Amino acid sequence: MPERRVTIRDLWRMKERGEKIPVLTAYDYTSAQILDAAGIPMILVGDSLGMVVQGYETTLPVTLEEMLYHTRAVVRGAKRALIVGDMPFMTYQVSVEQALQNAARFLQEGGCQAVKLEGGRRVLPAVAKLVENGIPVMGHLGFTPQSVHQFGGQIVQGRTVEAAETLLRDALALEEAGAFSIVLECVPAPLAAEMTRRLRIPTIGIGSGPHCDGQVQVFHDVFGLYTDFVPKHTKRYLHLAEQLRAAAQQYMEEVRCGLFPTEEHSFSMDPAVLEEAVRRVEGGKD
Ligand code: KIV
Repeated sequence: MPERRVTIRDLWRMKERGEKIPVLTAYDYTSAQILDAAGIPMILVGDSLGMVVQGYETTLPVTLEEMLYHTRAVVRGAKRALIVGDMPFMTYQVSVEQALQNAARFLQEGGCQAVKLEGGRRVLPAVAKLVENGIPVMGHLGFTPQSVHQFGGQIVQGRTVEAAETLLRDALALEEAGAFSIVLECVPAPLAAEMTRRLRIPTIGIGSGPHCDGQVQVFHDVFGLYTDFVPKHTKRYLHLAEQLRAAAQQYMEEVRCGLFPTEEHSFSMDPAVLEEAVRRVEGGKD
């Protein structure tokens, strides 16, 4: 990892060298600081925060203002990772002009270096416009969560000849339009491998096998904070929810039986000062 902030060119060089690109999501200052210290080269402020932070069933209710709020917090925490802000539902589909205005807000007000948007050839005009105006764009193909109702659930994409052909063509078209990288979500591993071979830009997989140029995972999934369900593509590296629950119970117990706080966690004062204050109160002085 360079001492300065990672750029899209660094990611291209990583692909050229065959160096894998590990990506994680983050939604706040503290977790971004931790990932940055660990050396994660790219952080995605994903609209998955709608589910793992806000508790919605899908990513659809997340607003642009909420994404900007979380992006600013992550940018304050991570000084070296390239930070990608996820454009929420209906902030880039209505018109190319609106996509440009909203993407610009991510860079100007959010402070991130790139944006991500979902879809293939239908979003090409928006991708091209953003890139033309100096905004790096990450594509997102396969299962695209903002279309969950269209898909009818989190369903693997690209298993038929037609669907695989569509995905391959969409990927090549996104590259042609100037996308700097593409997330492949729930794409069968052999198809993701083929897409990765054919593209010059890095593919970042999630549930798309080991042959993508990089992998992205949701912070709350890999560290065991989100317990509503565990996606098949997730490996849990920690079980934070259980550890936090146990710690909260210990805290509760220690407060109840007077083990916390102790002198170590308290502030002292000159007893004479307190004595004088009490004397004044008891003597009725103002
Ligand atoms: O919102 C998100 O976190 C994402 C990743 C799962 C790729 O889009």
